[in-house]
Parts: sequence; C-alpha cells; structure tokens
Amino acid sequence: MNVLVINGPNLNLLGKRPKEHYGTKTLDDINALMKNAAKGSAIILDFYQSNYEGDIVTKIQEAVLGKYDAIIINPAAYTHTSVAIHDALEMFKGEKIEVHLSHVDEREDFRKVNFVRSVCTATFAGKLEGSYVDAVEYLKAKL
Ligand code: DQA
Repeated sequence: MNVLVINGPNLNLLGKRPKEHYGTKTLDDINALMKNAAKGSAIILDFYQSNYEGDIVTKIQEAVLGKYDAIIINPAAYTHTSVAIHDALEMFKGEKIEVHLSHVDEREDFRKVNFVRSVCTATFAGKLEGSYVDAVEYLKAKL
C-alpha cells in the first residue's frame, strides 16, 4: 500500500511552534515515528511538505491519478480555509485520513471551520505526534 503523507504550512518548522499545541518533535522526528509504525507491514510511506496551497493540490492529484492507495494529511491552516484542497481530496477514492497535532476542535472558533473533514474517511487529532502514528495504525488494521 503506497501512502502519501502530506503536511501543510508551517509544519516544516515543528519544534519551533508553540509547544502547548504542537509539542517538541520536529517533522523529521514524526516521519521517523511513522516509518517505525509501518515497519514490517505492506505500507510504504512517501512524505511531502509544502507551504503552498496549489502545490498540495497538485500532490493530491497524483494520488487521484493512481500513484497512491491512501492519503494521510495534516493541511495545517489550510484545513480552515481551503476549498481547493477539499475539492482535490473529494476526487480521491481511497482512505483519506485527516491528522492534527492539537485539539483543533477545542481551540479558537476559526479553527472549528473545517473544509477537509467531510471528504476524509477518518480523523486523528489532539495526540501530538501520536495522531500521526494512530493514522498509520488505522491503515495497518485495514490491510
Ligand atoms: C494543526 C492545527 C491548525 O489549526 C494549525 O493551523 C496548524 C496545525 C495541528 O496539527 O494541530 O498549523 O493542523
């Protein structure tokens, strides 16, 4: 199972963001934890991070066109703004897992607006890096 892992804006600077919401791990640390969770299974992870909405849309389109079997995505701030990411995810027919480090539904009102949840098949949020590991475990259980 080829799995595309997408991280949106500012997640490349994890480790420097507010620790009370995002913890202390870097994105490389999180990717390593995910790889470890996938080890020995049929899951092959491909990691992508961008600060640009259109680049994320283009990457999701690769999955729509057949390059990937599942998507794990933390759209970061674009979760709350992006119709374009919603529309791209809507076209992908495999598992689409929304992930957040923080308790995104229990924070400011603007973070309660969510353009991706309705087109995702599962959500893991509020467990810091554990949310990403949970997403891998969820896919392993589906194999
Ligand atoms: C986030 C939550 C978003 O509201 C925020 O803009 C982020 C990260 C999370 O992982 O908790 O950048 O997606």
